[in-house]
Amino acid sequence: MGRYLHNLYEFSWKFYWGVRVYVLSEYCKTDLRKYGQWAVVTGATSGIGRAYANELAKRGLDIVLVSRSEEKLHIAAMEIEKLYGRKTRIIQADFTVGHAIYPAIAEGLRNLDIGILVNNVGMNYVGALCFFLDVANAEQRITEVINCNILSVTQMTRLVLPHMVENSL
Ligand SMILES: NC(=O)c1ccc[n+]([C@@H]2O[C@H](COP(=O)([O-])OP(=O)(O)OC[C@H]3O[C@@H](n4cnc5c(N)ncnc54)[C@H](OP(=O)(O)O)[C@@H]3O)[C@@H](O)[C@H]2O)c1
Repeated sequence: MGRYLHNLYEFSWKFYWGVRVYVLSEYCKTDLRKYGQWAVVTGATSGIGRAYANELAKRGLDIVLVSRSEEKLHIAAMEIEKLYGRKTRIIQADFTVGHAIYPAIAEGLRNLDIGILVNNVGMNYVGALCFFLDVANAEQRITEVINCNILSVTQMTRLVLPHMVENSL
């Protein structure tokens, strides 16, 4: 009896969360355009960033894609325009470089009504399975990782936040 009740409890809990996550989130969607017409996604040409860019476009936003490979940027932007009929803008940037890239990114974002920033870009040391103490050329590599994973978040946020604050007043 105890086992039966436990299984019933577990099933009910999973059912509840299944409904909440997969059903409610499908139907009770916030209109993201209320925050601004554009979303910015870093590392937008593959994986999680590309999925974000596509989902946000599907939900009615125009998308700025910021990433390293210009060719991949064109392909990802064309896909969004074709599938969802949204506007796109691409900005080519290598986030490992550091502070020097941000004036050009700022220029690319100028005059856009940006409501969402997805700070997705990131990298590991050398592949996923490298031990920290075995990193070759460590000084340069550490700087690149910090630039890509941390500086990008702070600098991209600095670029878009003033407009978001202004919009929320
Ligand atoms: N996938 C996972 O299991 C997992 C787990 C934990 C955390 N994450 C984090 O989630 C984020 C996305 O992961 P993902 O697996 O979706 O990555 P991914 O498929 O490898 O895609 C990475 C994206 O970032 C871009 N990118 C990489 N280095 C860049 C650089 N230096 N400058 C500009 N753009 C750069 C890539 O563009 P190019 O192709 O042009 O280089 C690509 O668009 C990363 O921050 C990652 O650390 C992922």
